[in-house]
Amino acid sequence: MVGFAQDFAAKELSGRHVLLGVSGGIAAYKAAALARELVKGGATVQVVLTPGATQFVGAATFAGLTGRPAHTGIFDEAHAIHHVRLAREADIAVFAPATANLIAKFAAGLADDLVSSTFTCLTCPVVVAPAMHTEMWSHTATQDNIATLARRGVLVVGPDEGELAGGDVGPGRLVDPATIVAAMAAALRPSRPLAGQRVVVTAGGTREPIDPVRYIGNRSSGKMGYALAAECSRRGARVELVSGPTWLPEPAGVSTHSVETALQMRDAVLELAVDADVVIKAAAVADFRPTVYHRQKIRKEHLELGSVELERNPDILAELGADRRRRQSEGAIPGPAPLLVGFAAETDLEEERGRDKLHRKGMDLIVVNRVDMADAGFNVDTNRALLLGADGLRAEVGLTTKAELAGVVCDQIEALLVQRQQS
Ligand code: CTP
Repeated sequence: MVGFAQDFAAKELSGRHVLLGVSGGIAAYKAAALARELVKGGATVQVVLTPGATQFVGAATFAGLTGRPAHTGIFDEAHAIHHVRLAREADIAVFAPATANLIAKFAAGLADDLVSSTFTCLTCPVVVAPAMHTEMWSHTATQDNIATLARRGVLVVGPDEGELAGGDVGPGRLVDPATIVAAMAAALRPSRPLAGQRVVVTAGGTREPIDPVRYIGNRSSGKMGYALAAECSRRGARVELVSGPTWLPEPAGVSTHSVETALQMRDAVLELAVDADVVIKAAAVADFRPTVYHRQKIRKEHLELGSVELERNPDILAELGADRRRRQSEGAIPGPAPLLVGFAAETDLEEERGRDKLHRKGMDLIVVNRVDMADAGFNVDTNRALLLGADGLRAEVGLTTKAELAGVVCDQIEALLVQRQQS
């Protein structure tokens, strides 16, 4: 189900006229994959290239992939006022990769080649996917230019951190085509509060090792968390998925961090939450872990029944809630703390217990879901839930797929983000 998120997003662009601008960076070859993805989804793709881009990938490659000539020169069709026509035809424009130079031109309003001239004529939604060396990305000029574009309504997606040309490692990598497609689909929706937001999602159950062979675990499959990660990504969010062990395929366009124990999940979540806008804790975190981890397998004759001593795991969600309360009371919030969304696994939809957890852990929204039914709970594709919000929201969701429930939860998160922007 979730592995097809990329296809869903690409299909949302079906029938749309996409202007794809490519500038001169090594990541230009990935623009060919993006063009192919868009064409496969049913979009008409018109490619425009800077002279620098053609040093990396030729116009013939894009023409072959899109079935239309890829343009490079502003005077290719001077009689038709080329750049104006290209801009008018576009339902959405995407610039990938966007170099520091191209971003600077866009911010300054320069129009000295076909790509920048066309940009200045655009009235449709615009997505910019930067790619460059870390030093160029971090430079104040580039950061100021990006802030200018974002302020003017351009949806900036990426860059990712990772290995760059020449073997350096850092932020500057072009995000993958699936992430760009998801951002484009989100940019075309009338309301897109999750687009561009940083969302941390936890999924699956944790395993608490007793020895190298045995562990204490739970029956969570991760399906709900993965559905949420895919849905947030489809809506254009930058998703960091912190996942316990699972058999599920990695959702497209999502950056996945694999963990095993509750303590590893805590470390990953606390680090990622620092600059997150939303944290969704769908994981089933083990409440206890064995006090002692035996490095050697314990022979069964030495493993007495009832002899595994346990200690409490930290409550990650409660820690995030407490941290937010503390920062708010100190009035020292560097940026708004993330919205907190938690889950409660129940054998009945007990509202009082749900409300108690919501307030005790300082959440904005809790999804109380059934885990004891054949059609709701662990390792099935459907669920039943009760959504409770700190703002008084109460919404019952009858039998539904986990993908659809993810949509309902994301709708509520988007409503909360809008409330937050307005307050
Ligand atoms: N949670 C967490 N860290 C833990 C335990 C739980 O972050 N150590 C989060 C889960 O990810 C979930 C919510 O808290 O979002 C669940 O709260 P919890 O009180 O554990 O509820 P239940 O799982 O329903 O368990 P119980 O009713 O037994 O307390």
